[in-house]
Amino acid sequence: PEPDPQVNPVIPDRRNRPRRLRTTAAVRRMVSETRLRPADLVLPLFIKEGLTAPHPIASMPGVVQHTRASLRTAVEQAADAGLAGVMLFGVPLVRDATGTGATDPHGILNLAIADAVAAADGRLVVMADLCLDEFTDHGHCGVLRPGPDGEVVVDNDATLDRYAEMAVVQARAGAHLVAPSGMMDHQIARVRDALDEAGFTDVLVLAYAAKYASAFYGPFRDAVESTLEGDRRTYQMDPGNRREAAREVAADVAEGADLVMVKPALPYLDVLADVAATSPVPVAAYQVSGEYAMIEAAAANGWIDRRRAIEESVLSIRRAGAELILTYWATELAGWLTEPT
Ligand code: PBG
Repeated sequence: PEPDPQVNPVIPDRRNRPRRLRTTAAVRRMVSETRLRPADLVLPLFIKEGLTAPHPIASMPGVVQHTRASLRTAVEQAADAGLAGVMLFGVPLVRDATGTGATDPHGILNLAIADAVAAADGRLVVMADLCLDEFTDHGHCGVLRPGPDGEVVVDNDATLDRYAEMAVVQARAGAHLVAPSGMMDHQIARVRDALDEAGFTDVLVLAYAAKYASAFYGPFRDAVESTLEGDRRTYQMDPGNRREAAREVAADVAEGADLVMVKPALPYLDVLADVAATSPVPVAAYQVSGEYAMIEAAAANGWIDRRRAIEESVLSIRRAGAELILTYWATELAGWLTEPT
């Protein structure tokens, strides 16, 4: 008997064959919806004070703490690869309660900014992480005060004073863009005002707007030799919160952010897609150290195809809506993207 079309509708699919769009590499390329370019990528770089040779980071195979000389080479390679930019993180030799090294014009991060600007020669955007955690002896992203029950509290408004100073010192060192990553309230407004008052009206601000308190920052904390005990849950976002990301992004945009970021990337693609759908400014995503380490570890064990996993993960972040992707694979991936097919 004929199937009853009311119960079991027969779709007239004789002409409709989606696989036709997948028949050859040339056809697939023609209809691909998501494309990656080197100019979508930003390379994070670590520079450590006093190093005489680049130092490998055990939990991030292939990533090093740079010397000033090796940093310049890495920046030149990033520019040759056509990347959008580099994001600089400093690892100082001496730390203190208020992160003095962050606002010392001769502090390692500020020297590295000037080095990177010279090496980039206008070919890419030199970005600086604007946060105190690498410079404080307690490892928190701001300055501390005792709380009512004797606990340690990160003092939001006292921290803003330090961020304002840090922004101006980074701009004086030549940074094209500063990226406040501490998740303090009003940090974007305060940094923007400080830059403007010092005459740096053209220095961009990339807001780490929706930054979650994530286990995936683990290897980064090795990379910067973090001294943090405890966690950052009083300032970074709760991983379960999706709606709250919209509030953080709206606040940062209202405060003058030129770009906003979601971080980490792969575990937060829903948040990224939300932000990308509504943000009036360009959206970045940070594929963080733990995302990097997972794929490298699986690949080293032969459990995953390294290149395909890297390409797919970054493509997925792009597909979810990121216009800019920070990834430790940026230079290597850019090389693959420009290979003749
Ligand atoms: C804070 C900062 C962190 C990362 C970037 N900026 C660490 C943290 O919030 O604990 C993490 C980046 C990564 O894991 O790759 N300055």
